Amino acid sequence: KHYAAASFLISAQTLAQCPPDEGWEIAFAGRSNAGKSSALNCLTSSRLARTSKTPGRTQLINFFQIDEQRRLVDLPGYGYAKVPEAMRREWGRHLGDYVSQRQCLCGVVVMMDVRHPLTEFDHQLMEVAASRNLPVHILLTKSDKLKRGPAAQQLQTVRNELKLLNGQFTVQLFSSLKQEGMAEAWRVLDDWLEL
Ligand code: GTP
Ligand code: MG
Repeated sequence: KHYAAASFLISAQTLAQCPPDEGWEIAFAGRSNAGKSSALNCLTSSRLARTSKTPGRTQLINFFQIDEQRRLVDLPGYGYAKVPEAMRREWGRHLGDYVSQRQCLCGVVVMMDVRHPLTEFDHQLMEVAASRNLPVHILLTKSDKLKRGPAAQQLQTVRNELKLLNGQFTVQLFSSLKQEGMAEAWRVLDDWLEL
């Protein structure tokens, strides 16, 4: 699988520090601790993204290259309550700049803990993406934390809520721990990256 060839490219703090805005990019976003880095590692069969970073330290936009023209981007987590308000606002601005202005961005994968989906921050991010007509694919992460029935029920609940929103939203269950949902996620990434 081509994603296994991914390698670390660069970290950026602001939009200006990002690599040249060309080719295709898919951003991985979500609340702090939602399992973004774990999902990214799982999908690239790697340990590229750091999974135990202390929130509140340097929060960077990390770029991973798949090939010359294609990148996966690990965005800083949002909504971490213990981080000072001013710092949260700062991250929010860079994150918002990236999602609203990055031209090569072709889709956003939003990770949400299956037990706490669709927070206010998630909605804000999805609105920014939708306002640009960017597709959003939601991974309901840590699906191993629920039994099969409740997990399926939660998926249906989120799907129903998405139908009420204006935007191109899809959703699936995902577990990095059990390595479940990878094929379904890869199909979306392939489609967006025109692979
Ligand atoms: P930040 O970078 O701080 O925003 O967090 P993140 O969204 O990148 O989350 P990360 O991947 O670091 O995972 C956070 C915690 O959730 C870690 O302790 C992981 O081991 C755990 N975790 C991630 N994915 C899963 C999963 O599929 N199942 C279970 N049970 N735990 C998971
Ligand atoms: Mg992370």
